[in-house]
Amino acid sequence: MPEGIVYVDGAYFPPAEAKISVFDHGLLYGDGVFEGIRFYNSRIFKLDEHMARMAHSAELIGLPLPMPIEKIKAAIVETASRSKLTDGYIRPLITRGPGDLGLDPRKSKASSLVVICSTISLYGSKHMTGLSAIIAKVRRVPPSALNPNVKSLNYLNNILAKSEANAKGADEAILLDIDAYVAEASADNIFVVKGGTIYSPPTSTNLVGITRQTILDLAKDHYPTKVERFKTDFLLTADEIFITGTGGEVAPIVDIDGQKIADGKPGPVTQDLQKRYFELVRSTGTSIHPNNGHGSH
Ligand SMILES: Cc1ncc(COP(=O)(O)O)c(C=O)c1O
Repeated sequence: MPEGIVYVDGAYFPPAEAKISVFDHGLLYGDGVFEGIRFYNSRIFKLDEHMARMAHSAELIGLPLPMPIEKIKAAIVETASRSKLTDGYIRPLITRGPGDLGLDPRKSKASSLVVICSTISLYGSKHMTGLSAIIAKVRRVPPSALNPNVKSLNYLNNILAKSEANAKGADEAILLDIDAYVAEASADNIFVVKGGTIYSPPTSTNLVGITRQTILDLAKDHYPTKVERFKTDFLLTADEIFITGTGGEVAPIVDIDGQKIADGKPGPVTQDLQKRYFELVRSTGTSIHPNNGHGSH
């Protein structure tokens, strides 16, 4: 059982004791939304941005918030504070709540808030040495079927891609959209560096990543950046590739489908942006001990 603490609808539990109903439509149908948030040096990075995205995800599926967003925010800060961790990962989720065995969301009368505070390490030392990836056969669910801005509790599309990577012994999977443009990795956005310019696909088929936006902001004064669509050939002939996400942070991809990207080592732009990113996350954010005299931001 992971370390940490779990908040469920107003009460705090050790991880092994936190429970929700088996009739919760979050469990039965993936009917709910979530966020993945990190804190560093007792400061939660971009908490307001995560709260805004969570509220937007919920709105897109007509899921009522169990309490106002400011109270959700306070529960998140309190959970992180009680975890006694200084660096950790926070997973808030809102489920549709207990209903009956049919799909109808109207049968669930009260949505639930769960906040898990623990730790996560996705790529270990491969942050430094680089990840291998595959181009997944499964395509990203098209926006006409499900808006990619719904960060829903149903991640099967992403899990299938990740399983393809696992089966081929690769670290990550890159998903193409329905028109064969590069969309994103299984839970990260993707960037390409080519001829000194940084490229990232538009977010019409992907999640609007908070780390992605942070990197675009950090890069803009130092490198030309372009948000535009590209296909696999552009990826395979890149000078550098990296992926970004709250959990995965900023991670180089050095091999795709067994083919080395450039010289097969993390490139200088990736390393520079990794450094800038870690400096930023370690020095900004919402304090998890607001009454101890630490400021916010
Ligand atoms: C599908 C998907 N794309 C991209 C990301 C990266 O988003 P962020 O940087 O906000 O964590 C995530 C993770 O939240 C994700 O689940």
